[in-house]
Amino acid sequence: MEFSIKSGSPEKQRSGCVVVGVFDGRKLSGPAQAIDSASKQYVNEVLRKGDLEGALGKTLLLHNVPQVAADRVLLVGCGKEREFNEAAYRKALSAAVAALKNTGTSEATIFLTELPVKKREVPWRIEQAVLAIMEGTYRFDRLKSKPPEQKRSLKKVVLHVESRTEIAEGEAAVQRAAAIAEGVAFARDLGNLPGNYCTPAYLAEQAVALGKSNGLKVQVLEQKDIQALNMGAFLAVAQGSRQPPKFIVMEYHGAGRDEPPVALVGKGITFDTGGISIKPSAEMDEMKFDMCGAASVLGTMRALSLMKLPINVVGVVPATENMPGGNAIKPGDIVTTMSGQTVEILNTDAEGRLILCDALTYVERYNPVAVIDVATLTGAMVIALGHVATGMFANNDALAREVVQAGEASWDRVWHLPLWDDYQEMLKSNFADFPNIGTRAGGSITAACFLSRFAKAYPWAHLDIAGTAWKSGAEKGATGRPVALLSQFLARRAAA
Ligand code: BES
Ligand code: MN
Ligand code: ZN
Repeated sequence: MEFSIKSGSPEKQRSGCVVVGVFDGRKLSGPAQAIDSASKQYVNEVLRKGDLEGALGKTLLLHNVPQVAADRVLLVGCGKEREFNEAAYRKALSAAVAALKNTGTSEATIFLTELPVKKREVPWRIEQAVLAIMEGTYRFDRLKSKPPEQKRSLKKVVLHVESRTEIAEGEAAVQRAAAIAEGVAFARDLGNLPGNYCTPAYLAEQAVALGKSNGLKVQVLEQKDIQALNMGAFLAVAQGSRQPPKFIVMEYHGAGRDEPPVALVGKGITFDTGGISIKPSAEMDEMKFDMCGAASVLGTMRALSLMKLPINVVGVVPATENMPGGNAIKPGDIVTTMSGQTVEILNTDAEGRLILCDALTYVERYNPVAVIDVATLTGAMVIALGHVATGMFANNDALAREVVQAGEASWDRVWHLPLWDDYQEMLKSNFADFPNIGTRAGGSITAACFLSRFAKAYPWAHLDIAGTAWKSGAEKGATGRPVALLSQFLARRAAA
């Protein structure tokens, strides 16, 4: 997709389609009003007939509007002007993209970016527009024998700003957002690819390829290396699978050699059957998404290298399947983690924490300034926060605030949940140092408590993306979250 920034009047733009927002109520404002006056109240007349009503997310496509240079005008309902907030802006943008896809135009000139979103400046509006357009035009049909018929697809998008003085910051925002969108699309591709394609070896290959194309130092540790490191918990999960595990380490150097890095750790379960504590069949296919944490780390490494951020970052991914093979771990088995702490595996389906704990110990060697792990860790997270916010836990309040703010800024939001000592009580074992599960209550919190026992050496935040990494139902597919959040976090760190 080719994006550009422009300033000018909507009626004068030669384009396949000009996109303007219409608020609920009689009075038109801004670009919609400009089109209306140029066309001698053509828009108003159409609206009077009740075809749009300005309801948020509704669209109406007009052809041959008098005195308007563009072939088409797309009116996008934006709801009540007083209630026009970030969520409404995003919804209007996605509706516009969906409607544009149904036209034959390959270019669009978008004026929605001029709309006043509460407290959000031009760069934010442009960034969100680019991300929404890339999200809406994303397709994953590489595994269809005949890719579905498509109208001419959108190729050129012009985003408008009110004043020429805003063009430079708009262009910078396009650059940033395009890099983030690439990272998001990469993460979505990896997530959508099924378990028979996206194996631990495939993830490792993708990381190596990313390293080559984007100048990262990538190292893949094999089974024997993982054994030498004494990653007993990671290996325990991997032993039930025919696919050999891979431990992927990606280093991005954007700052001085001696500057300690931020470490990102992503859960890379390429398929989670539950192991011997096997999952029910219904919707088990969605467990191909259990590597979305890993995908988001790879996606973020991609985005940050495209943005050339002046910061050091190391991305780490333990990758394996969780299978019930003849050699699989059994409930009650006790394993020794890389940290030396022993764990009684009471449920083999609580495997994410078992692979992450060794990765958290591994990153100590980098002396990281901060560690963020990303994991589709618990079903309980979906129950708690649904599909809107990612759950966040942290052992450091300053880091937690920083992550929350990056979430607000990128509109890839997180909600801070408690990691109080009181919850640690739930992890007690008669036979090992502690078990890998607690009681059912507060399942996401006990999982975080488990991880916290391996993250004592540095400021650490844990993102449980079980509810946000993918969508189910008709729109089933990976979302690419939280690449935007992590990219924003790193960009702010780099600028600080
Ligand atoms: N990958 C799952 C978590 C998950 C489940 C994410 C459903 C999204 C939807 C994880 O490995 C898991 O199975 N967790 C268990 C933990 C339990 C056994 C303590 C869960 O949440 O049921
Ligand atoms: Mn599981
Ligand atoms: Zn899992």
